Amino acid sequence: MRNNSTFTVHPSPFMLILGVESSCDETGLALYDTERGLLAHALHSQVEMHAEYGGVVPELASRDHIRRVLPLTERVLKDADKKLSDIDAIAYTQGPGLSGALLVGTSFAESLAFSLQIPTICVHHLEGHLLAPLLEDNPPAFPFVALLVSGGHSQLMRVDGIGQYELLGDTLDDAAGEAFDKTAKLLGLGYPGGPALSKLAELSHSTHGKPRFKLPRPLLNSGDLNFSFSGLKTAVLTLVNTHTDLDLQTKVDIAWEFQEAVTEVLTTKCMAALRETGLDNLIVSGGVGANSKLREKLNAATKRKLCKVSYPRLEFCTDNGAMIAFAGAMRFSAMRLQAMQQINEIDYSFSVKPRWDLGELKAP
Ligand code: KG4
Ligand code: ZN
Repeated sequence: MRNNSTFTVHPSPFMLILGVESSCDETGLALYDTERGLLAHALHSQVEMHAEYGGVVPELASRDHIRRVLPLTERVLKDADKKLSDIDAIAYTQGPGLSGALLVGTSFAESLAFSLQIPTICVHHLEGHLLAPLLEDNPPAFPFVALLVSGGHSQLMRVDGIGQYELLGDTLDDAAGEAFDKTAKLLGLGYPGGPALSKLAELSHSTHGKPRFKLPRPLLNSGDLNFSFSGLKTAVLTLVNTHTDLDLQTKVDIAWEFQEAVTEVLTTKCMAALRETGLDNLIVSGGVGANSKLREKLNAATKRKLCKVSYPRLEFCTDNGAMIAFAGAMRFSAMRLQAMQQINEIDYSFSVKPRWDLGELKAP
């Protein structure tokens, strides 16, 4: 769709933003009011649909987003007691992610914005994750160190404001969530592996004794803030292969040690990042941020150093529409009124960015 139209941006600082997330296997919609906060959010997870294939099937994901996006929009409007005409702007995930899945949310958001003659905001999915802890009560103030641990990313960043992200460390191979997923597969657990592996590890009693297995802590003392998790997965594969009869107790013990190794490395590097930046505020986001062992270790380590750590509520660690509506609202609020008033020529054409580096973002 290409259509240039003119509209007036309300000079009011209060706006109602509809957020649309469809980058992977979750369709998320939300309404965020810049004065009253999050009014409503709704999510459909495709996990069950993809489970039988052991991972996300992109074509199925796109088709399911098409089925879900309208009913979920209607649901958030109803829950917030709002009408379509109350929406001031639409924020949507433009990337990174699966191109077909992104296209569903993007075309929906741009078409709806066109029909309502309101502006759109393209949101970077990782910026959504990064800002999600700020949706909670007593949000941390900038600057802070952020640990972003999802299925595709394991990054440490210094965050000085919206769009001001300095990469401090990155994974050299697998992301933390990816390592959880692949290891879970080796142990015969379902998809997604992170929550399943974590649940299995909780059955262990190893905390009270010497662990049965010892896995490496990759790059723990590398002197930088980078991560590497693929060797850990290979070490698990070796363990699995040496146990022809992989009984439940063995699986539990492997899961426990794997989780210990990943969370110890993540915690150590977070504390090093705080030390190196001289900051005392840490935020954690992304799917692996829901891991209770990681939270336990980070809570203890930050407490020892008199630092603060903040997380999104569990349901906002994984993909959701609320973080996209919020990131859009933050970007809109940060735009100067003058800049907003200049947006009177709008072009509802669209494109998606399946690959998009967070470092390319600029402050609004
Ligand atoms: O942030 P997210 O929903 O999607 C991406 O943007 O990638 O993260 C999904 C990842 C998956 O790899 C999943 O296994 C992992 O987060 N995950 C967990 C837990 N919950 C989700 N990993 C470890 N422990 C959990 N409790
Ligand atoms: Zn995500």
